Amino acid sequence: MTRIVVAGAGYVGLVTGVCLAEVGHKVTCVDFVEDKIDLLKKGVSPIYEPDLNELIRKNINADKLSFTTDYKNAYCDADVIFIGVGTPENEDGSANLNFVYTVARQIAETITRDCLIVIKSTVPIGTNDKVEIFIKNYLKHDVHVEVASNPEFLAQGTAVRDTLSASRIVIGAESEHAKQVLQDIYAPFKQPILSMNRRSAEMVKYASNDFLALKISFINDIANLCETVGANIEEVTTGMSYDARIGNKFLNPGIGYGGSCFPKDTKALHWLSEEEGYVLRTVKAAIEVNEKQKFKLMKKARKDFASFQGLKVAVLGLTFKPGTDDLREAPSIPNVRLLVNEGAQVYAYDPVGMENFKKIYPTQVVYESTAEKALEDADLCFIFTEWEEIKTMDMKVFKDKMKTPFVYDGRNCFALAEAEEAGIYYQSIGRPEVKTFEAKKEVIL
Ligand code: UDX
Repeated sequence: MTRIVVAGAGYVGLVTGVCLAEVGHKVTCVDFVEDKIDLLKKGVSPIYEPDLNELIRKNINADKLSFTTDYKNAYCDADVIFIGVGTPENEDGSANLNFVYTVARQIAETITRDCLIVIKSTVPIGTNDKVEIFIKNYLKHDVHVEVASNPEFLAQGTAVRDTLSASRIVIGAESEHAKQVLQDIYAPFKQPILSMNRRSAEMVKYASNDFLALKISFINDIANLCETVGANIEEVTTGMSYDARIGNKFLNPGIGYGGSCFPKDTKALHWLSEEEGYVLRTVKAAIEVNEKQKFKLMKKARKDFASFQGLKVAVLGLTFKPGTDDLREAPSIPNVRLLVNEGAQVYAYDPVGMENFKKIYPTQVVYESTAEKALEDADLCFIFTEWEEIKTMDMKVFKDKMKTPFVYDGRNCFALAEAEEAGIYYQSIGRPEVKTFEAKKEVIL
């Protein structure tokens, strides 16, 4: 049996390790954060992700999955080591590879057998080549190592499903041996396996994420224009989607993309292209549109309110998307900062993201246990995340609970007819305004 070790028990590493165990492999996950490993050993996932807890427990009990901080013991006799550590953004937009190289160094110094190192983390094109040379330079034993690329395409909130039934498995390998080892590991997955050279595999990851980010920024751009020319983005995207070349996915307008991938991967590829003396103009435009789109609701509300000073502002939804407690690059963060700095009293509700939000704004925000409580007596409301629980709320609640029902919805959670029927003031993205509620003169400009 192939001895598999996964370095990094964050989103990518943990989900990879758990899913590899689930299909029958014996996997050890390594991380240097002791608290995280302690939790995992008890069968508790440190991240909120559907099905993950269950699979962790099941595979620990089946003796297929284990966790440790002792990397020396784990790496020394591994056949294959997956690197699934974070590659966050540097100040200048480039990818920070410190974690990748720290792990690479540890691997080089501890392995005692021939080993295939597989980079799952999203890394700039050419990194696999560099890591292979780096590891060879630091090897302590006379063993054969090779590095292969195997990018990850999972999305948060559906990470387990995305991994177990991935759209494709991409293998970037420079030798038949490396290709074969990975094909054998992935044989139980039954998905298309695409083999290519390492640089192409690295590029597939960036090009896929940046294309999706571009799609979102494009539709946000069109939605903004719809508002000024009197079109409705929902009707427009429906009309577009019947062309199979366009499709109906990732055409939802909103307050921009957040999360741990699109913002950093667009910037990293743009940075890399500049280093290469080429400017990726399309990706640059996607980044610029997204930066502005984050504050789209604020811009709308400023037309209605002279200042947010002293107003009670309800905020529904904090995470960068539903189904996760992750706040990385969530548009809610800069928006709440703006409100708080302007002296608004922010009352927030999110089904799972509040504990993490408290780490950023421990005292400046009042956290409520339900959306209704956050809306109580509020002057205005912002919706930043389209949680099912929010989308299925009866819109009459805004009219009944709020002092003045000004609702600014950044994720188009409700039908316009519903807002009209509820008798509220409702602004969304790329759709006509609903102004059923007669705004009070003393509140608005
Ligand atoms: C993304 C990719 O989907 C995944 O394939 C890759 O491996 C990692 O990055 P993730 O960041 O988890 O996954 O979330 P995703 O569902 O793609 O959403 C990213 C952001 O785009 C969210 O803020 C979401 O609200 C926004 N989005 C998405 C839109 O604004 N409109 C859309 O139509 C789709």
